[in-house]
Amino acid sequence: MTSDKTTNYPMQRFSVAPMLDWTDRHCRYFHRLLSGQTLLYTEMITTGAILFGKGNYLAYSQQEQPVALQLGGSDPQALAECAKRAEELGYNEVNLNAGCPSDRVQNGRFGACLMAEPELVADCIKAMKSAVSIPVTVKTRIGIDDSDSYEFLQRFIQIVSEQGGCDNFTLHARKAWLSGLSPKENREIPPLDYPRVYQVKQDFPHLTVSINGGIKTLDEAKAHLMHVDGVMMGREAYQNPGILAEVDRELFGTRTDAPDVVSVIEAMYPYIEHELSQGTYLGHITRHMLGIFQGIPGARQFRRHLSENAHKAGADVEVLRQALTFVTGKNS
Ligand SMILES: Cc1cc2nc3c(=O)[nH]c(=O)nc-3n(C[C@H](O)[C@H](O)[C@H](O)COP(=O)(O)O)c2cc1C
Repeated sequence: MTSDKTTNYPMQRFSVAPMLDWTDRHCRYFHRLLSGQTLLYTEMITTGAILFGKGNYLAYSQQEQPVALQLGGSDPQALAECAKRAEELGYNEVNLNAGCPSDRVQNGRFGACLMAEPELVADCIKAMKSAVSIPVTVKTRIGIDDSDSYEFLQRFIQIVSEQGGCDNFTLHARKAWLSGLSPKENREIPPLDYPRVYQVKQDFPHLTVSINGGIKTLDEAKAHLMHVDGVMMGREAYQNPGILAEVDRELFGTRTDAPDVVSVIEAMYPYIEHELSQGTYLGHITRHMLGIFQGIPGARQFRRHLSENAHKAGADVEVLRQALTFVTGKNS
């Protein structure tokens, strides 16, 4: 195995998208073993949950770094306070969600509906930036509802960057319909428009601009990187995490080989044992690993064994060890 070298690329060159219920801390720990360089995002966590909730929503493992906390909210003071806590805990970036179209999020006046209020987003970013020295970034869409002209997007970026001081944007290259479509439909139905994101980079060359939406291979990622600074991959990285094993070599040039995926699974054992001792269920960790052997003989049995057994009472690391034998052919 080749040791990691340092890289001059921006942290955002390749990232795994924030995904509610998917990119939890167990998922990120697993993804980190596959790629040392990929920037990992948390699920969106609302300021209300952080400031008033009972759970420890910011808990994570230092091994996940570099990791970015994605916040949902639109109150500048609350966002600033959450950003401060994130920085103190060692998060490497704080990201404001201005792209999620769910009803719940709209009722809280955050997510994609914030695209209609660029001055408010600028105030939020300004407050967060004055509270922390880590990067404060925005993830948004290219438009909402009938506000889908390039001028609308350009004005949003201009106000948030000039008045708010945000110099780092990730753009999901499709607009969102705020009513009528479910969040899932909003990830599929509005057409992708990559050139519009490239145009933002051309018009704001001093900003770090990352592209997101529908990207499925590292070759596609490389093609986008000819036009923008970063690529964010969501569903494909989650459903086919083996792709992450190639990222350090293919996109960052910090390795000459790719980590052996079986060894990565085995490297999860101590983490799993520790987590089980803290009361975590095996299935809560292994659910993120189901797609790892996509395309490899034994993948279906690996997946089925985990799906059928990891949620049983008392399930421990032996279930995973057993599942692995379907791929390695080795019975331990
Ligand atoms: C299950 C799921 C949950 C998501 N949760 C969030 C979220 O919490 N915050 C956010 O900004 N986007 C969220 N998204 C959107 C993704 O970050 C991403 O923008 C979208 O999936 C498009 O990228 P992709 O085509 O590479 O998946 C979610 C997507 C999925 C599939």
